[in-house]
Amino acid sequence: MNKIEIALLGLGNVGKGVWHIFQNNKEEITRRSGYDIEITKILVNDISKERGIDIPVGVLTTDIEEILSNDNIKIVVELLGGVHPAKDYMLSAIENSKHVVTANKQVIALEGTELLDAARKNGVLLYYEGSVAGGIPILKGIEESLTANKIQEIVGIVNGTTNYILTKMSLENMDFDVALKQAQDKGFAEADPTSDVEAYDAVYKLAILTSLSFGINVDVKDIYREGISNISSLDIKYAKEFGYTIKLLAIAKENNGSLELRVHPTMIPIAHPLANVNDSFNAILIKGNAVGDLMFYGQGAGSLPTGSAVVSDIISILRNDMTLRSISTVENKAASKLILNQQAYKSQYYLRFSVKDMSGVLGEISSIWGKNNVSISSIIQKDEKQGIVTLIIVTHDAIEGDINKSVAEIEHLDSVYNIDNLIRVEKLN
Ligand SMILES: NC(=O)c1ccc[n+]([C@@H]2O[C@H](COP(=O)([O-])OP(=O)(O)OC[C@H]3O[C@@H](n4cnc5c(N)ncnc54)[C@H](OP(=O)(O)O)[C@@H]3O)[C@@H](O)[C@H]2O)c1
Repeated sequence: MNKIEIALLGLGNVGKGVWHIFQNNKEEITRRSGYDIEITKILVNDISKERGIDIPVGVLTTDIEEILSNDNIKIVVELLGGVHPAKDYMLSAIENSKHVVTANKQVIALEGTELLDAARKNGVLLYYEGSVAGGIPILKGIEESLTANKIQEIVGIVNGTTNYILTKMSLENMDFDVALKQAQDKGFAEADPTSDVEAYDAVYKLAILTSLSFGINVDVKDIYREGISNISSLDIKYAKEFGYTIKLLAIAKENNGSLELRVHPTMIPIAHPLANVNDSFNAILIKGNAVGDLMFYGQGAGSLPTGSAVVSDIISILRNDMTLRSISTVENKAASKLILNQQAYKSQYYLRFSVKDMSGVLGEISSIWGKNNVSISSIIQKDEKQGIVTLIIVTHDAIEGDINKSVAEIEHLDSVYNIDNLIRVEKLN
């Protein structure tokens, strides 16, 4: 049996998952890869930290050079997180002819082009299955099993933290702050939850999915982004009255030769399969022009699920006999597609207003909608409190530019106190 040495950079949540999988599934991994794989070095910040696992003496190091300059180490597994020094270490490993596996969505979304170019030039592989939707084999699904298709649409719940918060708000009537605190207490959300809650994390993942599905390199700045911090219990309650639930969706879809790329809270019909993806689970719906609709569902994060994706990448590299082939090293050569401006999106819209309790308000608002080509599908008026009435409107399909024009005019009406929220509604065929 051929022996092979690999190194981990990082022994946190995912690093420990990878370590456990090698301990527990040694026989399967050896049989499937054809190699006796040994983790001989692990880079950490602090060697003396209590980790609850038995690591042989001499394996932990704080010196990256012990890994980069060791010719016996053939694969480097980056599990540090963040862009620096992760990117620098990955580039050095590649330049030292080592294959690289990572679960780092941020570094792949922001620096993937440079890293993949370097891998191609140096004749090594760079795999990153764990960077999107943790344990769900979505990247290999797209790059290997769906290569016969033109991908037309991807709609995904790709962030477990926000899905957990929205689930608690919806099923247990929790307020946003309480649900966020619970997510932090259970270890789903970071102490600083900005990347999850404000949807940066989902944007990174959508950039990676788009690049593999549509063959273009996406600048994350071109992806429309809106987080969930504006979603209130009232919106969740009214969504239910209209037959919807609210999910943070990452959407990439063809629209007359252009591409819509957006991440935002979305109302979707309660009966849709994505509406029933709860807690920290992820799901991704893909529409291919030959295969039709496919849905991938599973644990989108966590030590073992993400470790599962990372170890499978290591095995893929070994199975490829470490020759340059297949996923992630395919260059994005498709003609660059126009990314549709947000003003051109078309969907239904939910709007919640606080208006004065007086006659004629609805007429004023309706005439503005009419003038801007927006028609109303449903309207609910809620009880008045101290002279303020809540008005909830769901439009028919409308162009977002027309909605924004209307909203700007409605905001200036004397009879309108506030436009409390605007949420897109997707029918999801
Ligand atoms: N957690 C998940 O469920 C999940 C899911 C999918 C993808 N990911 C991605 O996987 C990666 C790792 O996430 P994680 O949750 O495992 O992170 P983590 O728990 O914070 O672990 C990070 C590890 O990296 C080490 N480290 C960080 N910076 C270092 C540096 N400059 N030099 C040496 N060691 C350093 C830390 O060492 P010490 O232990 O000594 O502090 C720690 O062991 C991230 O890119 C993340 O986005 C995570």
